[in-house]
Amino acid sequence: MSAAAAAAEGHCLAFRNVSYSVQVKHSRSPFAPVVHKDILMHSHGLVEAGQTMAILGSSGSGKTSLLDVLACRNIGGTVTGDIYLNGARVTSELIQDVAGYVMQDDRLLPNLTVTETLFYIAALKLPSSMTDADKMERVNSVIAELGLRHVAGNRVGGNTRGLSGGERRRVSIGVQMILDPSVLFLDEPTSGLDAFTATAIVKTLSQLARRNRTVIFTIHQPRSDICQLFDQVMLMSKGYTVYTGSAQNMLPYFSTLGFECPEYSNPLDYFLDTITVDDRSQQTFDISFAILQSLVGCYERSATYTELQTKLGQVAQIAEAATQRQVLNRASESCLPQLNTLTGRATVNLRRDADGLNARLTQQLLFGVLIFIFVFRLKTDQPSVQNRTGFLYEAISGPVFIGMLNAMALFPTQRDVFYRESRDGLYGASAFLLSYTLHALWTDVTAILLFSGFSYWAVGLYSSFARFCIFTTVMYFLQLFGESLGLLTLSFFYETTVANQAASLIISASALVASGFLRSTQSIPVFLQYMGYATLHKYASEVMVANEYQGLQLECPANLPPSACEYQNGEQYIDEMFPGAVEHLWRNIGIIAGFATALRILPYFFLKFVQRSLR
Ligand SMILES: Nc1ncnc2c1ncn2[C@@H]1O[C@H](COP(=O)(O)OP(=O)(O)OP(=O)(O)O)[C@@H](O)[C@H]1O
Ligand SMILES: [Mg+2]
Repeated sequence: MSAAAAAAEGHCLAFRNVSYSVQVKHSRSPFAPVVHKDILMHSHGLVEAGQTMAILGSSGSGKTSLLDVLACRNIGGTVTGDIYLNGARVTSELIQDVAGYVMQDDRLLPNLTVTETLFYIAALKLPSSMTDADKMERVNSVIAELGLRHVAGNRVGGNTRGLSGGERRRVSIGVQMILDPSVLFLDEPTSGLDAFTATAIVKTLSQLARRNRTVIFTIHQPRSDICQLFDQVMLMSKGYTVYTGSAQNMLPYFSTLGFECPEYSNPLDYFLDTITVDDRSQQTFDISFAILQSLVGCYERSATYTELQTKLGQVAQIAEAATQRQVLNRASESCLPQLNTLTGRATVNLRRDADGLNARLTQQLLFGVLIFIFVFRLKTDQPSVQNRTGFLYEAISGPVFIGMLNAMALFPTQRDVFYRESRDGLYGASAFLLSYTLHALWTDVTAILLFSGFSYWAVGLYSSFARFCIFTTVMYFLQLFGESLGLLTLSFFYETTVANQAASLIISASALVASGFLRSTQSIPVFLQYMGYATLHKYASEVMVANEYQGLQLECPANLPPSACEYQNGEQYIDEMFPGAVEHLWRNIGIIAGFATALRILPYFFLKFVQRSLR
């Protein structure tokens, strides 16, 4: 069945007796007891095709949890109850085929235009049998449907420049609209927007629903006139349902209970104030919770509830017989076109980011210039040993740090887009990591060539093209290692500052323990010597020293007796400070390459298995 046909047919979503609970710990201590927490209690509802349902409630009432449960998103915890879509029991596969989920936060690449953003999504989502022209037509129709034509060529932007908040929200909705889903879930589509823009977004959702779609969204603090745009309303508090039913009947229903909305008040604000549990003190909690319990009881005895239960009972009966499954046309899961699209998209995003790109390309070179100013041209006398060693120490430390900072600047935005798109089932962690590596490859190679091309010859390291190539290769792997370490910590810790601190600490410790430049590795405690084998800096230092000192003649100044000169040649220095470095040169280069590559693969496991419950 085609996407358009699926939407044309429409889907009715019904849920009955849905409860959700999680196991929580009140502290991070491994000995803290695990406590059972109920988040949703016996929720019911029915939304027909062509209708909107607004889930309302104060913060923490369980709106997002309900949306996640209905959309079968893997959120942990235990879900009980029945959820049906067109009479068939919902499964995550079924939902993924017919529904789109717009998360609360916009996770978009800031440097792509609106059209590009949607076109890349079309390339990832729509089948390869569709031509690019057909995909573009779909993109243009989504742009038109969401009223984004006037900004189609504008960049999405991040925190500073780009689209307005409301336009960005529409793009996020557009991302889900590419497959023309017949069910659309949206978590807080109006959060952070002014009242006018929020109304405009809800109007758009209402129009989307009118085209035979089922639109379910959470919202808090809507303007009173927005209420007219809702077909169904669900009022929640502390996981309890206080009302589910038509928006029109809500006011009369509450007035029969004696809750008449005061004149000139926003009825939604009034009802939300009434049902919200006030946690400020035990006394306010007891009073407000008692009101909530009585309202829940009233609702469960109401005619609205009985009517809903009758309808839900009918749906459940159909469900026993229903086996049909609607499938939207999706892209096949072939890897190469996917990788191509992801790499192309990331490249465009990076190329457009002038500041980020300049930093990536020139940081290493500027670092090289800085060391050159400090060390200037190396001589081949005794004092040059210290300068030479100092240069090598800096040359080993710099690329690792710069690589790590490159990851901190570029990876988080792309990772967040990955979390969203992988949850939508578009591609996996391997395709994402590979595309990230490929798209950054040319900038990494260029940056290292600029650095080593300048500093190697300007400082006057051992004059040999072969040794220059070894130097450059090691520099490249060091930078790759640094960036991979950044990816690893950013895949483990969500916060960039924490990831940055963790990566910096690991790099510093590694350089300290194993480089041998600050203190000979022979003279450090044995356990630190063993730890050194697990660090890249040990192997990098040995390669650098062997590459530079082997065959180097160190002159003794004429005014000094030969006994005052510690090293006559480079070999003596190597033998004393890095014994075995020459013999192990190629082995060490292999270990460095292996280290950097392995570390690039490691984030895969975190990206794949550490579930981010991002909303
Ligand atoms: N996985 C979880 N573990 C522990 N508590 C959870 C979990 N998921 C949700 N909760 C708790 O359940 C309650 C409802 O959370 P939920 O995010 O659904 O609320 P919400 O109505 O969407 O709030 P908001 O308007 O602030 O987004 C909150 O108290 C929240 O802390
Ligand atoms: Mg929420």
